[in-house]
Amino acid sequence: MTNAPRNVPPDMGASPAAGESGDVWREALAARRTVADVSTLPGAQVSKRDPDASRRTFIRASFFGGFAVSLLGSVGMLVDFLYPRNVRGFGGAVPAGKVSEYQKGGEPKHYADGQFWLANLDPAESRNGGTGGGAGLIALWHKCPHLGCTVPWRKEFDYEGDKGWYRCPCHGSTYTKAGIRVFGPAPRSMDTMKIEVDGSGNVVVQTGTRTPGGPDNPQRAIKAPGLPA
Ligand code: FES
Repeated sequence: MTNAPRNVPPDMGASPAAGESGDVWREALAARRTVADVSTLPGAQVSKRDPDASRRTFIRASFFGGFAVSLLGSVGMLVDFLYPRNVRGFGGAVPAGKVSEYQKGGEPKHYADGQFWLANLDPAESRNGGTGGGAGLIALWHKCPHLGCTVPWRKEFDYEGDKGWYRCPCHGSTYTKAGIRVFGPAPRSMDTMKIEVDGSGNVVVQTGTRTPGGPDNPQRAIKAPGLPA
């Protein structure tokens, strides 16, 4: 019989002494393999990372990342929607036929889709409501500079003994064939638009490129090859 107390591990590698029970031996092995607190081990590296904090950080990053992507997508679609492409009609390039269609000194032609009048000014049309010496094509925005009414060309309208004027139906502002204001509350002459003529004689009016009306309106007329003389 041995006098070793119960639960005291015997020397490892040694066989149970004669007379020791098998239970005592197994308990001794279990006691040697159990570590109650690893942090108490010398040199032990204990991680201080909080798993809950990592999860919160991940969820927050996912939320803001998704929000940023959605916001960028929405802004992109809005810019794409608003960006002007191939603008036709008013605000863009409006085809206005061939230069050969505009007789020198003829009646102005109206383009409702581009909101302008187009005429081939004859510098010899020296009447009061005439061209003021302007020669060539001129495009006049049909919007009255006063309060924006549409100004018609009235070839039979008589003003101070002369027929053929632009006459605003709203408050009576009156303009010559070159768009010069001669009467009424409008603050200036009619605005002009840029005219382009290509090598084949096609006329295009850039309705988005407008110049406020002024005393130089007749000089804004352009001469182009093929324009009837
Ligand atoms: S809007 Fe043309 S005169 Fe007033």
